[in-house]
Amino acid sequence: MEVKTSLLDNMIGVGDMVLLEPLSEDSFIENLRNRFDHNEIYTYIGSVVISMNPYRALPIYTPEKVEEYRNRNFYELSPHIYALADEAYRSLRDQDKDQCILITGESGAGKTEASKLVMSYVAAVCGKGQEVNKVKEQLLQSNPVLEAFGNAKTVRNDNSSRFGKYMDIEFDFKGDPLGGVISNYLLEKSRVVKQPRGERNFHVFYQLLSGASDDTLKKLKLDRDFSKYNYLSLDSAAVIGLDDAANFRTVKNAMQIVGFMEDEVQSVLQLVAAVLKLGNIEFKPESRSNGTDESRIKDKNDLKEMCELLGIEQSVLERAFSYRTVEAKQEKVSTTLNVAQAYYARDALAKNLYSRLFSWLVTRINESIKAQTKARHKVMGVLDIYGFEIFEDNSFEQFIINYCNEKLQQIFIELTLREEQEEYVREGIEWTNIEYFNNAIICDLIENHQNGILAMLDEECLRPGTVTDETFLDKLNTICAGHKHFESRQSKNSKFLTDHSLPHNCFRIQHYAGKVLYRAEGFVDKNNDLLYRDMSQAMYKAKHSLIKQLFPEGNPAKVNLKRPPTAGFQFKASVGTLMRNLQTKNPNYIRCIKPNDKKASHIFTDTLVCHQVRYLGLMENVRVRRAGYAFRQAYEPCLERYKMLCKRTWPHWKGPAREGVEVLMADLQVPADDFSYGRSKIFIRNPRTLFSLEERRRQCLQDLATLIQKIYRGHKCRSHFLLLKKSQIVVSAWYRRYAQEKKYQKIKSATTVVQSYTRGWQARKLLRELKYQKRCEEAVTTIAAFWHGTQARMELRRLKQEAQNKHAVTVIWAFWQGTKARRELRQLKEEARNKHAVSVIWAGWQGTKARRELRRLKEEARRKNAVALIWAYWQGLKVRRDYRKFFRANAGKKIYDFTIQRIMQKYFLGLKSTSPPMSPVDKSWPARPYRFLDGVHAELRKIFHHWRCKKYRSQFTEEKKAVYKEKLEASEIFKDKKALYPSSVSQPFKGDYLEITKNPKYQKLNSSVDAKVLLADVVNKINRANGKGTARIFLLTKKGVVLADQKTGQVKASVPLPDLASVSVSTQNDGFFALKLKEGSASAIKGDFLLSSERLIEIITKLHLTGATAADSERLNIDISDEFLVQFNHDKVCVKFIQGAARNGNGVSCKRKNNRLLEVSVPTTA
Ligand SMILES: Nc1ncnc2c1ncn2[C@@H]1O[C@H](COP(=O)(O)OP(=O)(O)OP(=O)(O)O)[C@@H](O)[C@H]1O
Ligand SMILES: [Mg+2]
Repeated sequence: MEVKTSLLDNMIGVGDMVLLEPLSEDSFIENLRNRFDHNEIYTYIGSVVISMNPYRALPIYTPEKVEEYRNRNFYELSPHIYALADEAYRSLRDQDKDQCILITGESGAGKTEASKLVMSYVAAVCGKGQEVNKVKEQLLQSNPVLEAFGNAKTVRNDNSSRFGKYMDIEFDFKGDPLGGVISNYLLEKSRVVKQPRGERNFHVFYQLLSGASDDTLKKLKLDRDFSKYNYLSLDSAAVIGLDDAANFRTVKNAMQIVGFMEDEVQSVLQLVAAVLKLGNIEFKPESRSNGTDESRIKDKNDLKEMCELLGIEQSVLERAFSYRTVEAKQEKVSTTLNVAQAYYARDALAKNLYSRLFSWLVTRINESIKAQTKARHKVMGVLDIYGFEIFEDNSFEQFIINYCNEKLQQIFIELTLREEQEEYVREGIEWTNIEYFNNAIICDLIENHQNGILAMLDEECLRPGTVTDETFLDKLNTICAGHKHFESRQSKNSKFLTDHSLPHNCFRIQHYAGKVLYRAEGFVDKNNDLLYRDMSQAMYKAKHSLIKQLFPEGNPAKVNLKRPPTAGFQFKASVGTLMRNLQTKNPNYIRCIKPNDKKASHIFTDTLVCHQVRYLGLMENVRVRRAGYAFRQAYEPCLERYKMLCKRTWPHWKGPAREGVEVLMADLQVPADDFSYGRSKIFIRNPRTLFSLEERRRQCLQDLATLIQKIYRGHKCRSHFLLLKKSQIVVSAWYRRYAQEKKYQKIKSATTVVQSYTRGWQARKLLRELKYQKRCEEAVTTIAAFWHGTQARMELRRLKQEAQNKHAVTVIWAFWQGTKARRELRQLKEEARNKHAVSVIWAGWQGTKARRELRRLKEEARRKNAVALIWAYWQGLKVRRDYRKFFRANAGKKIYDFTIQRIMQKYFLGLKSTSPPMSPVDKSWPARPYRFLDGVHAELRKIFHHWRCKKYRSQFTEEKKAVYKEKLEASEIFKDKKALYPSSVSQPFKGDYLEITKNPKYQKLNSSVDAKVLLADVVNKINRANGKGTARIFLLTKKGVVLADQKTGQVKASVPLPDLASVSVSTQNDGFFALKLKEGSASAIKGDFLLSSERLIEIITKLHLTGATAADSERLNIDISDEFLVQFNHDKVCVKFIQGAARNGNGVSCKRKNNRLLEVSVPTTA
């Protein structure tokens, strides 16, 4: 919920002077001081804001403050300039009313700062967007530019605006800024050539000299040293807290943002430099022959440089400083200038040049910031104009300024009263006429067309003949003497004749804000504002486009013999326009007051403030505002604020707010005279009534706070108590439960103990009884057993005796009976069968009858059979019963045999299903079932294996047999003898690896071999000299061995098998083999062959087998040893195999060690 606040909350003194009670100048100032001391620099008079200059940065202009005051009612929060700005902006935006903000106050009171605060507030709360932001930025940045050229340090203010400024900011229907228009009033141009003690020239001169780069200064022909320029006062060139160099950058940047072109900025700076140069031109007198004095330029250097800067011919300007031409109709008269006149002309030119430049700047800024659309717009005007000035020595400028303030006061009173009146009418309150001082009469004294002071001054200026300030004063004395507000020593009013405070050369005007004494000296001259035509013509001749533009009257083609309008006239006209403009707008006032003359914070000088309060007419303002009713407030906030004072309106009033307020006032018994009901507001006549309401409210709020506190405390205590109570119940419940649980546990354990004791006692008793009973029973049983035992043993002895006697007879009898019974049974069976056969034949013939008979017979036979069987069984049974114990001995063996038979049968049948697969390599064999079958089982395994091997062999083809034969042979030769052998087992012996018959490359070689090739492969022939290998094709045929060149296939050596004596190989994992030839054979001329092949096993096996099958050769010897002799030519060389480490990943290496030794190093296999 939004908290409604009011201006009346936390007030220091009174926030609105209208509520001041009692109202007097003292209480007014005391209230201002009280608030100022508490950093409350803003105070209202109704809707007027009084602003005290704090002379220090207060934290009241933050973005948070902007948000706080945004969209709030004027009286809702404590007084602030933002409240006024917000009110003005909102009524502009929402009610479509053009606004003007009039900021007045004396120099240094904070007008310019206030205007900037208003602008920045409006900029912060109005619309946003790229275009809008640009406009805002341009409007805001126009300030630094104008301040640089139009502000100066004065004794009153370090940043004193030396011109009046009115700025119209234009908004569209949404309240977004569109642009603006600036009007400037009366720049204090005299400052350009002369500054009072302790003051400076316009900031821009110092900024340029301190801030511009060396390069720029060089271009402008300037020196950084202020002391080089006559126009710059030196005693306060540097101002504390003012950084001219930094400000120069700010100004340049601002000019760029506002839209100045680079060449425009340069032109402006050239003009500023020209003014400085102009100040340095000095003159000396030179007497002429005709006795007149003539002036001459002392040092032409500055003139030259200035002329260069502005593009003026030096002689032209020089002449302009020496002569004055007066044109009257057809005549032209030239007169020479004396030194004083030359200086006058120089300064007039400097002043004009600068003030025109300033006006041009304003026009140029206006061009940039003007609204781009022609659409209807709303306007907010901000007027920052010099305040009323009363100095010791007041001149034409003060007269003009005070006239302007007089006009503003007039419009202020007029508009305030009008507004007041309008509100009364709006609210239906009766309007009672208010007595107030109307300063129209003073305005009239100054501006009246016929006999106003300005009109007379103009008249004097235009009058032919000698015109001086004295003649002007005389004129005033004659014409205005009768005026109530005009005072002069020479006036007809005798009371001033002896007034020594009024010098003869002065006149005094009683302004609304006090009496001001004006010295007539300089009035005529300043009003004339004379620039010799020669000067403007010289300027017009300049090549510099801007300066040409500034002096259009210098155009010889447009010679205007009419005098230009006087300064007074121009000012009056522009003030008139301004007033008309302001009258169409809704005014908002900011009255600035400076608290002290020292530019110091925390100092409040009563006399100074009192003086300002007087001439700002603030008391008058309060009185007007309070004339009818001092305070007014809309019904809703009023009811909201005071509803607690009446039971009927507290806490809620359901009806309309006005009725609520009526009930409230009636209940509070406020005298009916003290207030009136308007349409939407209540009007309270006297602040006392309001304060009594406030006091009652404060009291009531205290009571309410006490009540809220009381109820809250009661509620808090009760809640606490209830919580305690609830907790206590919970705690006691838990405790009781715990106690009872403990008690119960105790009783329970006691009971258990008693119970266990009782049960134990009973059990023991019972146990004793049972034990006794059991012992009795056992005794009886033992006795009986012993007795039965004795009986039984006696019977047993008897029976044993009897049985021994009968045994032989019984056995024989039993056998005989058995045999007899079986024989009879067989007989009966035979008989029955015979009968059955007869019956079948009979039945076949006799059909059903016979079968029936047969069945009968069968039945009969069966019955007989059964009888016999039963008989036999009975006999058997009888025998078995009687002789069972004798059977056992025989039956055991039979059962044993039978069991053995049965086991064997099961074992053999079982083998059928558990026998292993038919593969000869399969090693599996079922486990033996019984240990006694151990031998049989092993034997059977062997038989089974032989049998399946035979079966397997029977499947072999002849070729396969040959392969296996070779493999078998290899195994016989190499197994466990050569380490290379195991790796060859899994390799099939392919024989023709080179596919010699198919490969066309070997066609020739194939054809040169006449027998069938059994093996063809590439082998390495070891060089006898160095042990290196050369690749050779190795062919084995039935007849012999052929070695051929690998590339060409050319036969290198052919050895018939019979020439081979033996083959030598090592025991190791190498492929070296030596083919040894029989001594004396044809092949043995070159000696033995030492070859090497991976397929050594296959080669030697095949060679061995071939040698064996060849009819005319003996079996080839295969010699396996790690050292053998080989015949090379005529030498016997020993080939020795040693174990060595693998080199370069390569396997075997062969080296010729010496004539007798060839060493083959074979890597040890891991
Ligand atoms: N609201 C403020 N907060 C802090 N300092 C302020 C404020 N208003 C004014 N000042 C200080 O007072 C100085 C003078 O203020 P400002 O230039 O606005 O006076 P002015 O009324 O425009 O005077 P002039 O008529 O000479 O132009 C400022 O430079 C600033 O230091
Ligand atoms: Mg100012």
